[in-house]
Amino acid sequence: MSKPIVLSGIQPSGNLTLGNYVGAIHQWLPMQQHSDCYFMMVDLHAITVRQDPTLLRQRTYDGLAMYMACGLDPQQSTIFVQSHVPEHAQLAWVLNCYTQMGELSRMTQFKDKSVKHANNINVGLYDYPVLQAADILIYQANQVPVGEDQKQHLELTRDIATRFNNLYGEVFTVPDPFIPQVGAKVMSLQDPNKKMSKSDDNPKAFILLNDTPKQIEKKIKSAVTDSDEQARIYFDPSEKAGVSNLLTLLSVATGTSIAQLVPYYEDKMYGHLKKDVADAVVAMLEPVQNRYQDLRRDEQAMRQVMAKGAEKAREHTVITLAKVYDVLGF
Ligand code: ADP
Ligand code: NA
Repeated sequence: MSKPIVLSGIQPSGNLTLGNYVGAIHQWLPMQQHSDCYFMMVDLHAITVRQDPTLLRQRTYDGLAMYMACGLDPQQSTIFVQSHVPEHAQLAWVLNCYTQMGELSRMTQFKDKSVKHANNINVGLYDYPVLQAADILIYQANQVPVGEDQKQHLELTRDIATRFNNLYGEVFTVPDPFIPQVGAKVMSLQDPNKKMSKSDDNPKAFILLNDTPKQIEKKIKSAVTDSDEQARIYFDPSEKAGVSNLLTLLSVATGTSIAQLVPYYEDKMYGHLKKDVADAVVAMLEPVQNRYQDLRRDEQAMRQVMAKGAEKAREHTVITLAKVYDVLGF
């Protein structure tokens, strides 16, 4: 049997956050051994919100260097930039014609983003989930590792694929989401009821993977918890959102389960937990940051990785697109 096909990506709309690491990259690492993996920087998605071109280009390089620094290996996996593989956009056009306006109007991310970007509710922002469906279906992916925020989009991808298959035969593999048990939703450090995102207006809300140890300590120290006078530390994301978020980060950073961590904090204060989280996150990121500096410096080598990745990706995308065009009568 052939290996499962895995696809995922992150937007270069900012530098990568601890949320992207815990909810995405960290989950992808072990998949490289047993699956045929495709990991991309989704620059086409990033422009649904205005981007500064110079910054966008830099962040695309930064993101790819960070992918590799975290352990994504271009020898093992296909690592590329979305806009370098034209079939994503080509398939998206086709899928647009098999997606209903009403389906896209129901997407909660679109609703949230239209509030945040009320002066630029462009068609791309609305259509984003269809491009995402194309990203996935063009590789015939079986598994899509994502955080919880993407669950609804994946459901839509499955609907579009099934609808298309019902009309034209087995053209697409219908993908399954892979949502991690721990860390599927890392919360903002300033508002533990919303997810940590690189596009948050408050820079204290997120930790960047290349923040200095001092910055990391400061942000975690000022993380919002709750007003429980007894400062009880236990895991309950609805009653204790801030504390639970810290426990999640500690769990991932130390490789210890939350159940094992909690008893230790029974008689301790929030400050104690925060110090431990900061130390653990700093220690986890230190080797990543060292590798990042070396990788990022060599842009020539990065361009080679991108070119090779796009070439490998296109070996597959042209086949799916040809199949789709054929059944449509093109
Ligand atoms: P961002 O919101 O930071 O711009 P993206 O939309 O680029 O992130 O998401 C890239 C990947 O990272 C997706 O798989 C998404 O589910 C995951 N992800 C993003 N933020 C978080 C978070 N706070 N917790 C867990 N996973 C996240
Ligand atoms: Na996002």
